[in-house]
Amino acid sequence: MMRVGVLTGGGDCPGLNAVIRAVVRKGVQEHGYEFTGFRDGWRGPLEADTVTLDIPAVRGILPRGGTILGSSRTNPLKIDGGIKRIKESMGKLEVDSLIAIGGEDTLGVAQRLSDEYGIKVVGVPKTIDNDLSATDYTFGFDTAVNIATEAIDRLHTTAESHMRVLVVEVMGRHAGWIALHSGLAGGANVILIPEQRFDVEKVCGWVTSRFKASYAPIVCVAEGAMPRDGDMVLKDESLDAFGHVRLSGVGEWLAKEIEKRTGKEARTTVLGHVQRGGTPSAFDRWLASRFGLHAIQAVHEEDWGKMVALQGTDVVRVPLAEATARIKTVDPKLYEEVGVFFG
Ligand code: F6P
Repeated sequence: MMRVGVLTGGGDCPGLNAVIRAVVRKGVQEHGYEFTGFRDGWRGPLEADTVTLDIPAVRGILPRGGTILGSSRTNPLKIDGGIKRIKESMGKLEVDSLIAIGGEDTLGVAQRLSDEYGIKVVGVPKTIDNDLSATDYTFGFDTAVNIATEAIDRLHTTAESHMRVLVVEVMGRHAGWIALHSGLAGGANVILIPEQRFDVEKVCGWVTSRFKASYAPIVCVAEGAMPRDGDMVLKDESLDAFGHVRLSGVGEWLAKEIEKRTGKEARTTVLGHVQRGGTPSAFDRWLASRFGLHAIQAVHEEDWGKMVALQGTDVVRVPLAEATARIKTVDPKLYEEVGVFFG
């Protein structure tokens, strides 16, 4: 009897439960596997902290946001004896292999456990940021873009009523995918992404030209975007008490600069974790379910060290190393193309 461990690591994301459900249903019904759910990402196998994972446990979870397994950013490679503890608890619990559902960090750990320590792992990509290489899309992204787009739609009407500038800050530490997609879909007048430093004067120029056309401007800025003059004060990359990176302030800072330089009133909305919470979109449920079905198939075929990925309309398998080597950022040509709408 094969026993498969499942864990979800890193920031949560709509669609995680859809993956878990697909893995368990296909695994039990087609292959007769048993499952062990590990709690809170890599903390689960480190501490042998488990949760029952069978057909009744996955009933009704498809439309639910978050993850029934819990999540954390625990990294066993940074813990003394971490790998040994994972191997021991897998042995004790008779878990033969692992499905790790996560982003860059979680899958980076999965890749090293597989390639360097011989642990049987299959990876599933997730992140609302859509910045994982080797896959065209990650689930969670579509939901986040829909939430941000709806917010921008709503901001237009209040901005117009008061003829103010509204700056909306969306997630995206290293990549501007959410800003680019929601900004374009919501008709923002300026979109600022981490991949290209922005010129505040140019932003103010676009804002002013928008007012001249009798419209109130919406500026959509990714949390990791930086001004060209490199005012580092606005980007606080320090670690918090939990060892997490905190970025804050670009939206607020920019609104103040715009007010100062254009004389127009500006307000900021920081969408934050609203983008990660709640029910997944139909697309994300579809993609996450397909990823789950393909991941358990990879386990069945003992195709270790791979990550399932969407390429075009096909779900394929790629080496985990390929997926985690670098993050996928916005192509400058694509950003330039969208720039035609600025101002
Ligand atoms: O990686 C996804 C992400 O949502 C980033 O866009 C954001 O910067 C980060 O997570 C926030 O993470 P935390 O949950 O630690 O606040």
